[in-house]
Amino acid sequence: MSYKEKIDTNRLPSHIAIIMDGNGRWAKERNLPRTEGHRAGVKTVREIVSAAVALGVKYLTLYTFSTENWKRPVQEVKALMQLLIESMDEDIFMNNGVKLRIIGDMDRLPLPVQMSINRLVRKTENNTRATVALAISYSSRWEITEAVKQISARVLKGELSLDNITEETVSSSLTTNFMPDPELLIRTGGEYRISNYLLWQISYSELYFTNAYWPDMNEEELCHAIYEYQQRERRFGLTGDQVATESKK
Ligand code: IPE
Ligand code: IPE
Ligand code: MG
Repeated sequence: MSYKEKIDTNRLPSHIAIIMDGNGRWAKERNLPRTEGHRAGVKTVREIVSAAVALGVKYLTLYTFSTENWKRPVQEVKALMQLLIESMDEDIFMNNGVKLRIIGDMDRLPLPVQMSINRLVRKTENNTRATVALAISYSSRWEITEAVKQISARVLKGELSLDNITEETVSSSLTTNFMPDPELLIRTGGEYRISNYLLWQISYSELYFTNAYWPDMNEEELCHAIYEYQQRERRFGLTGDQVATESKK
C-alpha cells in the first residue's frame, strides 16, 4: 500500500513548511552544473505544490533562497535570480487555485525579480484553495529583528504598552502573520538542521528529514512525511494520559 493510500485526509497538517535542500548535490552526482539542479528543483516545486493542494493542504511555505544564500558565488546567485523570474509562471498557481505570497526581504532582490514576483502575487491574490508562501531572501533572525523594531516603534509612539506585549503580538508582527504555524516541517537533502528558518513558528512543529535531494522529492515522499506526522502523538507538554483524555472530550 502506498503512503498516499495510507494517510488520513481528515487529519492533514493545514500548514507544511519545507526546506528544499540538495539541488547542488543532485546536479554534482550527474556531472551537471549546480544551476541545473536548481532548474530540476523548480519542476519539483510544481509537482509538490500540485500534490499538496490536491490532498487538501491549505498552506505551504517553501524555503527558496535564504539571507545566507546571498553569500554564494555571484554566478550562482545570478542564475537563481534569473530562475526565479522564469519560474513565476501563472499556470501552476491559477490551475490549482493557489495564492502566492512572499516572505523575506524583497528589497534586496533585483528589480526585475521583484516585478515578476509582484505581478504574480497580484494576479493570484483572489485564489482561495491554498496559499503558497515562498521564503526568498528570508531568514528567521532577520524576520524576528524586524518584528522587534516594529513592536518597539509602537511602544515608543505610545500605541502599545509593555504589559500588552504577548506572544500574539510577536506572532502577528512576523511576516508569516497570515498563516497558522506549520504542524509539519520537512527538510530534504539529508541535513539535520534548521538553517535559520521559521524559528518562532516551528516551536511545536513535527520535524521530518529525508535523504532525498529536492529534485528527487515526489508526491509519495510527501505522503510519507504526512503519514509519519500522523503516527506521532503531539503532547504539547502534557502527559500521554492527559492527551488521551483530551481527545475523548
Ligand atoms: C537548495 O539546494 C537550494 C538553495 C539553497 C537555493 P542547495 O543549492 O543548497 O543544494 P546543496 O545543499 O548544495 O546540495
Ligand atoms: C537552506 O539550504 C536554504 C534553502 C533551502 C533555500 P542551505 O543549503 O542554504 O542551508 P545550509 O547551508 O546547508 O545550512
Ligand atoms: Mg544546501
